[in-house]
Amino acid sequence: MSSFTPISSQSSSLFNNTCHLSVTPSSTNFQSGFVPKRVPFRSQVPAFAKMPPRTAAVVTATTAETPKKRYPGEAKGFVEEMRFVAMKLHTREQAKEGEKEVKQPEEQAVPKWEPTVDGYLRFLVDSKFVYDTLEEIVHKAAYPFYAEFQNTGLERSEKLAKDLEWFREQGHAIPEPSSPGATYAQYLKDLSEKDPQAFICHFYNIYFAHTAGGRMIGKKVSEKILDGKDLDFYKWDGNLSQLLQNVRDKLNKVAESWTREEKNHCLEETEKSFKYSGDILRLILS
Ligand code: HEM
Repeated sequence: MSSFTPISSQSSSLFNNTCHLSVTPSSTNFQSGFVPKRVPFRSQVPAFAKMPPRTAAVVTATTAETPKKRYPGEAKGFVEEMRFVAMKLHTREQAKEGEKEVKQPEEQAVPKWEPTVDGYLRFLVDSKFVYDTLEEIVHKAAYPFYAEFQNTGLERSEKLAKDLEWFREQGHAIPEPSSPGATYAQYLKDLSEKDPQAFICHFYNIYFAHTAGGRMIGKKVSEKILDGKDLDFYKWDGNLSQLLQNVRDKLNKVAESWTREEKNHCLEETEKSFKYSGDILRLILS
């Protein structure tokens, strides 16, 4: 289980009588696994004691004044906070910063996978359904700030349409979207209208995961079952690093106006993002 709490370089006595917000994603039950939002700090193991120094953001306080508590990644901006929480939710087999135990087949190292073409097609179809939905949501912009995320260059819907057309030309029947994609798309639609902070968590995780682990998956799966064919899903127009940086800058800017509670609420949604995306990834192995 990974835990996520604000930290300080001060001695533990400074935490006495302090309330804080805690984001503690559980690896077992994403519905109920969060620590209640306000818990007295002294009831918990100080977070800095559990964190590796590289990831622990530390605030220096000079005088006796109460230090501002810092969250891992906070000094770099909110995207770094989202990334920190996401990386802990990987398994060690998926990424070196991962901490979760392998429980599902798709959580194993990708080279160990035994993908099938039909399963991969199901994954691509459901992924397209989710990207169609995401791209429609930012286009409609139920909250005006969603419009910031139109035409980022990270969009995947058209690329996937091209790939599915290629499969069709190869003689494959293209399936209808299945339950994992339809369920996630409906969840995103609902969330985008009533909970923008939680929606942004999914937006970040979906697009950024695809450029990291997603690309690795595309390469390995293609080597195994598509004779190394490069799908458009894994190609971006322009410089990908720059496109990602532009989106990071926008996400950081948007989150600057959020309260700490709203930020924590966004971070707490990460586990659901892994759960829904994991259900879609698993299709590759079906
Ligand atoms: C088989 C499944 C997966 C594999 C193999 C995988 C692997 C990776 C790897 C290798 C990285 C790069 C780590 C680094 O920067 O050193 C990464 C980053 C990341 N992954 Fe995953 N991942 C998987 C699934 C997921 C899922 C399901 C999500 C969430 C929906 C996710 C979200 C992210 C995010 C947000 C990043 C950070 C990207 C960035 O720094 O720009 N990953 N992943």
